[in-house]
Amino acid sequence: MKKTNKTRFTPKKSKKIVAKKKKSALSLLKKNYWMAICVVAVVVAGGGLYNLRTNSLAVSLPSPSPDALYKQATQPVEVRVQDLLKRMSLEEKIGQMALVDKNSLKKIEDIDKYNLGGILSGAGAKPKTNTAQEWQDLVNGMKEQATKSRLAIPIFYGVDANHGHAGVPGSTVFPHAIGFGASADVDLVQSVAIATAKELSATGINWNFAPSLDAPKDIRWGRVYEAFSDDPKLNASLGAAYIRGTQTPQKTDGTESYVLATAKHYLATGSMQWGQSNHKKFQIDQGKVIADNSALKNEYLPPFRTASQAGVSSVMVALTDWDNQRIIDNEFLLTTKLKEEIGFKGFVVSDWYGVYEYANTSDYKANIKTINAGLDMAMLPYDYKKFIKDVSVAVRHGEISQARIDDAVTRILTQKFKAGLFEIDFKNADLSIIGSQSHRELARKAVASSSVLLKNSDQLLPLPKQGNHILITGSGADNVGRQSGAWTVEWQGIDGNWLPGSTSILQGIRQVNGNNTIDYSKDGNFSISDNRADIGIAVVSEKPYAEGFGDNANPTLDEADKIAIERLKLKSNKVILIIVSGRPLIINEQIATADAVIAAWLPGSEGAGIADVLFGNQIFKAKLPLPWPLSVQQLPISTDGKSKDNTEVLFKRGFGL
Ligand code: BGC
Repeated sequence: MKKTNKTRFTPKKSKKIVAKKKKSALSLLKKNYWMAICVVAVVVAGGGLYNLRTNSLAVSLPSPSPDALYKQATQPVEVRVQDLLKRMSLEEKIGQMALVDKNSLKKIEDIDKYNLGGILSGAGAKPKTNTAQEWQDLVNGMKEQATKSRLAIPIFYGVDANHGHAGVPGSTVFPHAIGFGASADVDLVQSVAIATAKELSATGINWNFAPSLDAPKDIRWGRVYEAFSDDPKLNASLGAAYIRGTQTPQKTDGTESYVLATAKHYLATGSMQWGQSNHKKFQIDQGKVIADNSALKNEYLPPFRTASQAGVSSVMVALTDWDNQRIIDNEFLLTTKLKEEIGFKGFVVSDWYGVYEYANTSDYKANIKTINAGLDMAMLPYDYKKFIKDVSVAVRHGEISQARIDDAVTRILTQKFKAGLFEIDFKNADLSIIGSQSHRELARKAVASSSVLLKNSDQLLPLPKQGNHILITGSGADNVGRQSGAWTVEWQGIDGNWLPGSTSILQGIRQVNGNNTIDYSKDGNFSISDNRADIGIAVVSEKPYAEGFGDNANPTLDEADKIAIERLKLKSNKVILIIVSGRPLIINEQIATADAVIAAWLPGSEGAGIADVLFGNQIFKAKLPLPWPLSVQQLPISTDGKSKDNTEVLFKRGFGL
């Protein structure tokens, strides 16, 4: 298996800057004795003794008594927050604002030493042996470590479970969000979010970086499938359902707690311009949006308003520019619009290296700008100690107000109390829920509910369960890695038929088809005795991709799949095309010449759901959640369905037989 941990940006330059700063500060102190005395005096007055070796304040604050107000579950959340806040030193507060990637945590003791607010496993950051048990041990070990800090504030542990707890082999891998957009089924989305939260909780994880409320206008973007739709209304209703489901309280040993949800990526993500990415290797991801006040009001803000009303705990800020300014630096968007106008009460978290990436300034200033703009918690894939130190210095210099820090920490603590993290007994949860039969059945139903029937000449579908000779070909037929897409064990996914406990589409067809005769050849080289089979099914697919690595100037089929379709046509009387992809593909000719066409999106681990609609166990009811273009010249397509070149798209949003 290829290891694809996130390595988006190596902040070498900034490390050098840090080293230089340390050196000059020391030599200055050596040279000037009196100045050193003054510095020490100022720092002591600020609350403790500064330790230049550890970059931390040596504080000796008293341990709270066991009956401290904040420890009492019966007290109102506001009382608990205020009680805790007033006991915290500045460094302890700033520690709470740090969300550190598991792979960059230097020592587990740093969790309590720096009073860290949370740990995340960025996609691919997994335990040494990737099993549910190891996840449980890892996460609970870290949570236990947090209880050793003076105030014993519990940590968040966050992951991207955007289509199930898919980082864990053996979990239920649900369809990616685009499939749920096609289902437009609020109840289904809520049930799937509940199931996902249960699988997460079993391993101790209490924060999901989902749902995405992005609205893709350009199918060349590598994150289309992570979004429900390009329709803000559908995003709002499905997003709220996902949030309600995720944050549904679960009972553990008499205590209740829930998994936090994240509405992302704030704001306007999906409306970036092709060819304008800030990232050297990407085209549109992490790119630029033209500021448009009418779209802001009518398209971009509404899903986040609905998410806020649904009580979402956190909002993640996009790595996108709004009129050439980073959104994360934009106080108007983060504070005026989101917190004041919408009334969002949760906390704002940055995306990966988002505080520093494309900042065009020092890390120190980037911290100041983003926190002052309204950022509450910084995702820190690299240097968390420097974050804590820099922010402390900035507060002491008056560059960030104490009130802003208190507001950020109040928001974070409020969500920790509300979610029940101070009470929950996190040990030894039952792992059998992971990949359980009931969750797999739900996922299978979701697959059937999200498959869109785009064409059905002569009512070819549903197929009878007997009497036919069926040929099956294509790269996606027997490849659970492809049908699951990225964010499955690895960030970029894994191409191949490997996921334990899962069912490929081919296996699903074999299970469901009844007494038909089935022959399979991936590349379409069939040697069959009858001249032509009754039915040929081509399951074509995209290789898995995540984020900007999926930006693609021409989303179409691989040559191998095109050839397989041609071979199949020669051997079958009727041809069914099943498209396994994270976005609509430009394959007009293949669609035109097939008898039936199904958009299956990225169905996940339960391929039998496709067989269910093929053979009539379930009816097709899904509709396209976004327009299916004829050509790349039509891109981008506006929210009201107008293509760039003013020509008609192949299928409009809402189409489905
Ligand atoms: C993605 C986010 C994700 C985060 C943490 C980023 O690269 O843009 O959607 O939540 O990583 O893994």
